[in-house]
Amino acid sequence: MAPSISISSIAAHEDQEVSISGWLYNSRGSGKIAFLQLRDGSGIIQCVMAKAENDEALFQRARKLGQESSITVTGVVKADPRSKLGFEIQVNDLEIHQDAEGYPITPKAHGPAFLFENRHLWLRSKRPHAVLRIRHLCVQAIRNYFDDRGYLLMDSPIFTPAACEGTSNLFETEYFGRSAYLTQSGQLYQEAGAMAFGKTYCFGPTFRAEKSDTRRHLTEFWMVEPEVAYADLDDIMDLAEDFLVEVVGHVVKHGKEHLETLGRDVSSLERVQKPFARISYDEACEKVKALGVEMKAEDDFGSPQETALAEQYDRPVMVHRFPTAIKAFYMKEDPTNPLRALGVDVLAPEGYGEIIGGGQREDDLDVLLKKIDEHGLPRDAFDWFLDLRKYGTCPHGGFGLGLERLVAWISGVKHVREAVPFARTMAQLKP
Ligand code: 4AD
Ligand code: MG
Repeated sequence: MAPSISISSIAAHEDQEVSISGWLYNSRGSGKIAFLQLRDGSGIIQCVMAKAENDEALFQRARKLGQESSITVTGVVKADPRSKLGFEIQVNDLEIHQDAEGYPITPKAHGPAFLFENRHLWLRSKRPHAVLRIRHLCVQAIRNYFDDRGYLLMDSPIFTPAACEGTSNLFETEYFGRSAYLTQSGQLYQEAGAMAFGKTYCFGPTFRAEKSDTRRHLTEFWMVEPEVAYADLDDIMDLAEDFLVEVVGHVVKHGKEHLETLGRDVSSLERVQKPFARISYDEACEKVKALGVEMKAEDDFGSPQETALAEQYDRPVMVHRFPTAIKAFYMKEDPTNPLRALGVDVLAPEGYGEIIGGGQREDDLDVLLKKIDEHGLPRDAFDWFLDLRKYGTCPHGGFGLGLERLVAWISGVKHVREAVPFARTMAQLKP
């Protein structure tokens, strides 16, 4: 019997008879010959079925197979310089598992609403394939980065007793007669981890009830969050910069064919090298205003401000020391100016906006208590967190990177919902 192989390993089987199981991607042909494009998830290969070399009834069935029919092709691997893979299959036999009828995603163009409703099927097409392969490479690079540097992977819980990134976008759920909240960020638990292990990270889903439907917002997204003891804001900026250079470099190196499928301009990714510009919020505001974009005093950046600013740089830019008043309760005040917080946002080029948020944490118990009150947060939900300041507090910090924003930027897809297998937005809960 011919060995079963995957399309990605085809080059090792030249002139051998093999079997490949997969799905019919596309087909065309004449009365004498059928060209079957077979995909198996690892690639797509042309299978040439000649009437003269095959059972006549089988040949006739093959010619009429519907798109996405499940089939096993047996045949000989032949070098073919015209094919992208360099090989094709000369078919000797075909097993039809199911002749699929009326597959909704045809080679003609479809609108995004239709494609997202059919995401469970659309996953089989070339574009989602390329993006999800890039996502996989990003995850791999992220984990390698921290694993190679002695960080402990320490998962943060999903059910939490309180908000950490503001109460306006919390998902509340009933929890045995009381309320629990889906986590907005694993940070507070990583702070406990950093005090226990020196440096830790978590990497998992986080949730925000985002009521705005923008190209940058999901209600469920993945975040990687490193946290480091005895680190200050500058250390965290160094870390974020080094990390991004490494992750983008890994994808450029290992994901060339996927970036090509997406028509991504790789040269803009190759420019992601150290150093990134570091500018303060106050400097950034001046720049934004000089570019003619409206900027209210002491306000947070929205997408117009971020985009205008990021356009001034050919690689990510780091904006630090935002107004304390608009930032989370846990951010440390700048000792030289309490109106500014020791936080940093990293803005991606090409309009992708903030991909990283982080900074140095408030390590003083009394200041932290005051902040919890000012933010109207319940002290009792944070008693455990306050213990970290009572027992061996020290300067520390970390950041959170939104995986989908990173993947959208690297892939060059406009909307973050394309950067996740099954997007969750205000409008979409199915499939
Ligand atoms: O800036 P954020 O809110 O920071 C935190 O949650 C910190 N506690 C992280 C930390 O320091 N450990 O979110 C971090 C990143 C953003 O920069 C963005 O990339 C992503 O998470 N993000 C979202 N991505 C998709 N959809 C949303 N609704 C997002 N909200 C934040
Ligand atoms: Mg942020």
